[in-house]
Amino acid sequence: LLTTSHVYLQRLADTAEDADLYHEFNATLQFDYYNAMLINTMDDEGNSIDLGGEFPLEENEHFNKLSVNTLQSDIQVPTNVYNKDPDILNGVYMSEALNDVFINNFQKDPTLTWQYFGSSTGFFRLYPGIKWTPDPNGVVAFDCRNRNWYIQAATSPKDIIIVVDVSGSMKGLKMTIAKHTINTILDTLGENDFVNVIAYTDYVRYVEPCFKGTLVQADLDNREHFKLLVNELQVKGEGEVKKAMKEAFKILNEVTNGQGSLCNQAIMLITDGAMEDFQTVFEEFNWPEKKVRVFTYLIGRDMTFSDNVKWIACNNKGYYTHINTLADVQENVMEYLHVLSRPMVINHDHDIIWTEAYMDTLFNTMAHSLLLMTSVAMPVFSKKKETLSHGILLGVVGTDVPLIEVMMLAPIYKLGSHGYAFLITNNGYILAHPDLRPLVRAIDLSSLETYFNLGEKQ
Ligand SMILES: *[C@@H]1O[C@H](CO)[C@@H](O)[C@H](O)[C@H]1NC(C)=O
Repeated sequence: LLTTSHVYLQRLADTAEDADLYHEFNATLQFDYYNAMLINTMDDEGNSIDLGGEFPLEENEHFNKLSVNTLQSDIQVPTNVYNKDPDILNGVYMSEALNDVFINNFQKDPTLTWQYFGSSTGFFRLYPGIKWTPDPNGVVAFDCRNRNWYIQAATSPKDIIIVVDVSGSMKGLKMTIAKHTINTILDTLGENDFVNVIAYTDYVRYVEPCFKGTLVQADLDNREHFKLLVNELQVKGEGEVKKAMKEAFKILNEVTNGQGSLCNQAIMLITDGAMEDFQTVFEEFNWPEKKVRVFTYLIGRDMTFSDNVKWIACNNKGYYTHINTLADVQENVMEYLHVLSRPMVINHDHDIIWTEAYMDTLFNTMAHSLLLMTSVAMPVFSKKKETLSHGILLGVVGTDVPLIEVMMLAPIYKLGSHGYAFLITNNGYILAHPDLRPLVRAIDLSSLETYFNLGEKQ
């Protein structure tokens, strides 16, 4: 199951890369694909609507009793992306080649569950095909590019310090937006990343005093812990960005082996403006190498200090964004990932990633069928000659593995009563260790979670 899922992914990645290599972009392309939102929809006269052709679906035990089409994949596009944009049409058209591979993989291994391709243009090709149900408010917010498996596969490990202004001027809606921005940044991080969160007024304060001067692994526990503390932040006094930046640079400069990821280092500055003379801190800590990128998020309507905040990002290889409302947060935060994904894209590392265990809420709406899953994913790059040196990420291919399947490979009778299983995620092997600690016997959700977290961290 585990090693072979890598083989299946590699096939998908190779096929997508070849399909792109031989596809020439056609700006006027017309192509009628199966849109998962629109399939099986007729107009008043009984004709299929555009992108909504007949798509046979059949209830399937293996896919949580959902109605699926195992002969074809179909396409989901988030509401804020135009479903006939030339980028979407060309991408969907060229990735039709994945259909045969999906089917072939599933025939070879009927234990496989969902297989998919998330495109950097925003569409999501899912096999087997399903009818997509919109969110309760009628829109489709699901954007494959925001999913943990996509982000983890598309970027290399990162060290991130989040620096948030909690001075008096941030009160009210600004602080609400700032907190949401921090949570969204935290959601882009995974176990391979390291993080800390600093709040500042005229003095600097670690939101978790125990993590003073260091970086911690951005695993689920730490991320949730930060979120709770960030939620309690109160505003007060004057803001002095210089001291906070100094502290952030110090942490990143002092990171030594074993503490951070050392690949991508960035500071995320969240503020409604910076006025004092802060240039010297960059001179002292970051120039001329600019090893640390600084991304700035200007919060609120007031643009008085936007030039200053822009200047900080531009002079430190970062990216400036202005966040005015809560609805702006998600898209603006994602921008930083495009900047950080480039170094790895150029190296063309096809690193496979395994996500942390998570509840599959996407395809299971019935609580009794909630399963802990891990997603296995691999980035897909353009092989076109003209883009090779820039490194273009086409998207990410992935497949979901229910943890119950992993556990079945290490049954207790094989491990012994004090046996312990390790999942080595870079090659998908399970190892057993004797006499370390007893394995949890009951297969309930909490024990599954404990079991997997313990195993993966080793
Ligand atoms: C581009 O697509 C249009 C519509 O599908 C087609 O008529 C045209 O021949 C295509 N152009 C090229 C260069 O393939």
